[in-house]
Amino acid sequence: TKKTIAVLPGDGIGPEVTRAAIQVLENIARLHDHEFVFKEGLIGGSAIDEKGGPLPLETKEISAASDGILLGAVGGPKWDRLPGANRPEKGLLEIRKALDLYANLRPVKTYSALIESSPLKKEIVADVDFVIIRELTGGLYFGEPKKREEIDGETQAVDTLLYKESEIKRIAERAFQAARVREGKVVSVDKANVLESSRLWRETVDDVHDSYSDVELSHMLVDNAAMQLIAQPTSFDVIVTENTFGDILSDEASMLTGSLGLLPSASMGSTGVGLYEPVHGSAPDIAGENRANPLAAISSAAMMLKYGFGMEKEAEQIEAAIEKVLAEGYRTSDIAAKTDDAVTTTEMTDAVVKALE
Ligand code: NAI
Ligand code: MG
Repeated sequence: TKKTIAVLPGDGIGPEVTRAAIQVLENIARLHDHEFVFKEGLIGGSAIDEKGGPLPLETKEISAASDGILLGAVGGPKWDRLPGANRPEKGLLEIRKALDLYANLRPVKTYSALIESSPLKKEIVADVDFVIIRELTGGLYFGEPKKREEIDGETQAVDTLLYKESEIKRIAERAFQAARVREGKVVSVDKANVLESSRLWRETVDDVHDSYSDVELSHMLVDNAAMQLIAQPTSFDVIVTENTFGDILSDEASMLTGSLGLLPSASMGSTGVGLYEPVHGSAPDIAGENRANPLAAISSAAMMLKYGFGMEKEAEQIEAAIEKVLAEGYRTSDIAAKTDDAVTTTEMTDAVVKALE
């Protein structure tokens, strides 16, 4: 099968980890007789430097014409003082909007070889395996008005938390569909005791559930969910929630596994072109040192194969290779017990490629 993949390396360790993911994808293609064509585009700070803006038109075109987008990370101290409209993060927000990527999937799974490095008790994190589905294009981050004003000689700031029924409906459907191919359990997280948008959220999720009665649905308030994620993370299968709550809960959940360097994500929408990226940022503190953990980016590439291209076997082969190298003791510095024992980004990547065979 032939697939065109847009590669947007971005900033900091972004280029290092996307290079690793490409290496793995090239080898998977070779082993299965697929043809993957990679088209590179600028995004974030590097795009600001070279083209004057965080999402050049050319990048948008390459992305929209692809079968899937592999992204590294954007941002860094060099661009922190730029105004909002010309910041690296704006590139990400814009590409999500442009491709209508409204559903963000973040699987949280503990690797048995790494359980001892979790900050939590072994018996709590063993066998954690759930996915957070976060609504990505609505809510507080995008609602208008968003402004500052002077009232009675004092500055006040306003953000708007707005959700339309249609936005809730489509994300709820994603969650129920995901649950069907998992363990069939959805927890919808809201704050329906105080927020009107959450009451609409809850009613709409209940309505959509009527068509998915084979899936078990429960509702949980976000503050309770924050506790349960730590207290009994194995109780979850699919968590669906709105933009802000999802942002916070997914970062919280990421700590269950021990390192940001392991966690993949997928953002999907109505067009069929998904965007796949590691959860971590551009890690300016280790950029250019060949120390970044490439597994989150490699695992994101596996999500692209599975969710974007329907290549489940190939995706599982990559996941199995990751488990194998971890079981064999390969550790980049973020997950190594002693920094002396750490392998480099390229050594880790080569080990994964070898484990594919
Ligand atoms: P970060 O995720 O870049 O780094 C946090 C810590 O984790 C650092 O100590 C870093 O060295 C470490 N780390 C992250 N990924 C790693 C990997 N693959 N291997 C080994 N260690 C890893 O978050 P931070 O420091 O808050 O943000 C740095 C920059 O990244 C900022 O400009 C921020 O805006 C941007 N960022 C971009 C994101 C994206 O592109 N989606 C997401 C989060 C942050
Ligand atoms: Mg975040």
